[in-house]
Amino acid sequence: MDKIIIQGGAPLNGEVTISGAKNAALPALSACLLTGGWHTLDNIPQLRDIWTIREILSNLGVVFEEHGQTLKVNSDNLNNHSAPYQLVKTMRASILALGPLLSRLGKARISLPGGCAIGARPIDLHLKGLSLLGADIRLEHGYVVASTNKLRGADIFFDISTVTGTENLMMAAVKAEGKTVLHNAAEEPEVVDLANMLNKMGARIKGAGTDTITITGVKELYPARYAIIPDRIEAGTFLTAAAITKGKVRIKGCSVDYIGAIIKKLLDSGMEIEEEGEALVAIGRDKIKPVDIKTMPFPGFPTDMQAQFMALMCIADGLSIIKETVFENRFMHVSELRRMGADIEISGGQALVRGKKNLSGAQVMATDLRASASLVLAGLAAEGQTEISRVYHLDRGYQGLDLKLSLLGSKIWREKY
Ligand code: UD1
Repeated sequence: MDKIIIQGGAPLNGEVTISGAKNAALPALSACLLTGGWHTLDNIPQLRDIWTIREILSNLGVVFEEHGQTLKVNSDNLNNHSAPYQLVKTMRASILALGPLLSRLGKARISLPGGCAIGARPIDLHLKGLSLLGADIRLEHGYVVASTNKLRGADIFFDISTVTGTENLMMAAVKAEGKTVLHNAAEEPEVVDLANMLNKMGARIKGAGTDTITITGVKELYPARYAIIPDRIEAGTFLTAAAITKGKVRIKGCSVDYIGAIIKKLLDSGMEIEEEGEALVAIGRDKIKPVDIKTMPFPGFPTDMQAQFMALMCIADGLSIIKETVFENRFMHVSELRRMGADIEISGGQALVRGKKNLSGAQVMATDLRASASLVLAGLAAEGQTEISRVYHLDRGYQGLDLKLSLLGSKIWREKY
């Protein structure tokens, strides 16, 4: 296994390009199950969750041709409809195969995702929606077993805004007979990206990016070429890295539209962010002001940036309150940040962070994807050396974060243990 070692205190300086969005690439790859022929996906990030979904799709009979960040995908010969536990347990988003398989084959057998470090994370809303479209759903031996003779459009109301739930239902509905309306749909940019790709494949989807998405079923879909949007969480992580190291970073490739809430909070904390052509220039300032945040579905502050923002607040000049409303139990990073000297108190769904002048390097353990990014950021700012173990969590969702940081001047490297 790898661990990451950081010698803190070096300000970042230079330019970084943001990779394709993991959370847009995963549904886009799943959407290739909907119809045969060669699909071409550009800007696919190289990270572990992508390899996992590729393994799941390969297991179903999908073949790939890889040319750098471009992936050609062909699902002509689907010979299986099952996603096994060994693959699904490492990545919840595997459930994204359910909707397309039902649409294409009329059957699917996907292992239940199981426990997750950041809360219960059920999939009841995916299953309820699919039943309303006409699927028969059973839970057998830890698997969701779904089948249908025909999917028919329906009115579906999500009790909670769910990103992958909206994506799964959208993919199931594209070829269903008649009209499907998704109410209280997720408005995340990755949902819009999937809708754009599906429309390029011949689907008729309107309203993606609002809370009401209307899908008019079509008889046929075609393979398409599509470029994945940049990863807004990676962009937010680099902005925060500039703030926490009081450095200057030019961030290329991410639209401001995707990261408005993150930019607003970082500006409130005192850093400077300027648009310069296609890029953002982020400049960290000596004094970091305390800022409260509350995680919300898009366009609110993303839960996937909560841990990284908390690392910044650990060295702010005063008290900040961080409220997590999307996932319960998403404060696993707190005990590790405390090992680095942070003063954080958890009370209910919120963390009270009393900023300190310095963090001190320590041995810490990554507990989930975004928690690991938060520890990397804390390590960049801390005095002395930080050693982060279990960085396979980080590798699930960031393309070469440590490499990109080292090119920006961080003293960061990997060792085996
Ligand atoms: C997606 C993202 C993840 C991000 C999250 C919230 C992907 C691959 N992952 O995860 O990075 O943190 O959105 O922005 O895109 N819920 C239910 N029942 C369901 C589904 C969800 O109760 O059937 C609840 C969840 O427990 C959670 C909330 O709804 O409290 C939002 O979860 P959801 O948007 O579904 O998260 P994911 O799609 O799993």
